[in-house]
Amino acid sequence: MVSDLLKKVDDKHAVIGVVGMGYVGLPLLLCFVEKGFHAVGLDIDGKKCEMLMKGQSYIKHIPSERIKNCADSGLLRTSTDFAAARDCDAILIAVPTPLNRNREPDMSYLVSTCEMLAPYVRRGQLIVLESTTYPGTTDEVMVPILERHGLKAGKDFYVAFSPEREDPNRKDYSTETIPKVVGATTPDGLALAEKVYQQIIVRTVPVSSTRVAESAKLVENIFRAVNIALVNELKVAFMKMGIDVWEVIEAAKTKPFGYMPFYPGPGLGGHCIPIDPFYLTWKAREYGVVTKFIELAGEINTSMPDFVVQRVMDALNEVGKPLKGARVLMLGLAYKANVDDDRESPSYLLIEKLEEKGAVVEYNDPYVPVIRPSREFAKYAGRKSVAISGNYDLLLVATAHDDYRKIDFSKFSIPIVDTRNIARPGGKHVVMA
Ligand SMILES: NC(=O)c1ccc[n+]([C@@H]2O[C@H](COP(=O)([O-])OP(=O)(O)OC[C@H]3O[C@@H](n4cnc5c(N)ncnc54)[C@H](O)[C@@H]3O)[C@@H](O)[C@H]2O)c1
Repeated sequence: MVSDLLKKVDDKHAVIGVVGMGYVGLPLLLCFVEKGFHAVGLDIDGKKCEMLMKGQSYIKHIPSERIKNCADSGLLRTSTDFAAARDCDAILIAVPTPLNRNREPDMSYLVSTCEMLAPYVRRGQLIVLESTTYPGTTDEVMVPILERHGLKAGKDFYVAFSPEREDPNRKDYSTETIPKVVGATTPDGLALAEKVYQQIIVRTVPVSSTRVAESAKLVENIFRAVNIALVNELKVAFMKMGIDVWEVIEAAKTKPFGYMPFYPGPGLGGHCIPIDPFYLTWKAREYGVVTKFIELAGEINTSMPDFVVQRVMDALNEVGKPLKGARVLMLGLAYKANVDDDRESPSYLLIEKLEEKGAVVEYNDPYVPVIRPSREFAKYAGRKSVAISGNYDLLLVATAHDDYRKIDFSKFSIPIVDTRNIARPGGKHVVMA
């Protein structure tokens, strides 16, 4: 059975399904189409399905032209009807895995995806989970649901886990050039999953189990969360000592080995780093283990917006103004430079905290002209980006978009609070935060 499918993939006759056409799933889907595979994109969002078939992008760094080429090729199909999964030889799942209100893993998207797929699972199919999650999810959550209609994983169909390492808008690496870790529940499943990914990705990295693959992804993101926390803590310490942490980092990073630079900021953002480490924390509790490093990093990183608010108050104080009633223009709503992704962005916490203290906050972000509805910050939906001007009491730099690096900050006579080290040396009244 497996040899048939391996051959089908080699011959590019296999049909590839991708569930969840977001930041991760969409580029994956397009890569398979570009390599000549028939591919099916499944999503519960009918609008995304329609836009793709019209050749329209909804993600800034994925050009419409690329999507249009795929749509025009006749190889791409999108649907909200999961019956189309029956036509697929391999199905890759990239749906959200956020935290719930109690900061515990929210498996609801994955569970509902598997429930919708389950009736259409067929013999010989490969199903791969790509969403970031705790070790054991593939075996404990995904497999039992997919087996509900009688077929057995590992015997009748194949299951694997292969974490996504997408870094949206990265110029030096793309979906195709980032090696991909793959773990499966059986050797056949592993062979098949590797074969599928080898069609589009430079190198696969096989590991012995889905649990190892799930853990590898968490380690990568925990590493980032902990190092960002470390540099945020050092920022606060060095500031007290009158030492410029950004200059320190520039100097330290000249060491050719044993060090890599991380940069301080207003807090963590995005769909990964603030969330994923707590997937491990949650699972480790089941084994009586407390993941202190992760918790401490979370504590430090989540305290950063308060630190920034204090710096805003200090900066206003210097010019004899209270925060209450002050008009603040925040530059940057996206959580990182040059992307339109504002999920979990610390900018929202800054708005919230400043407004709680009576400030009047507006924002500018060339990539987020209007705030879209979101679960966490629904109250800000509909607010619009405004033009940058000096007609405020303070400018707060929250994101290092390239557009902002081009600003001549020397033209502003108001205080500037800079969390990204881009307003110096031009700005006259720059307070680092
Ligand atoms: N964004 C990144 O940079 C990144 C990087 C690495 C890993 N990841 C992980 O990849 C996964 C997906 O993240 P993303 O950023 O692509 O999310 P996203 O929100 O951009 O996209 C998820 C898509 O899934 C769809 N969806 C939701 N529920 C569904 C369901 N039941 N059935 C079908 N479709 C459904 C949504 O409509 C959306 O189009 C997450 O686990 C995330 O942690 C993300």
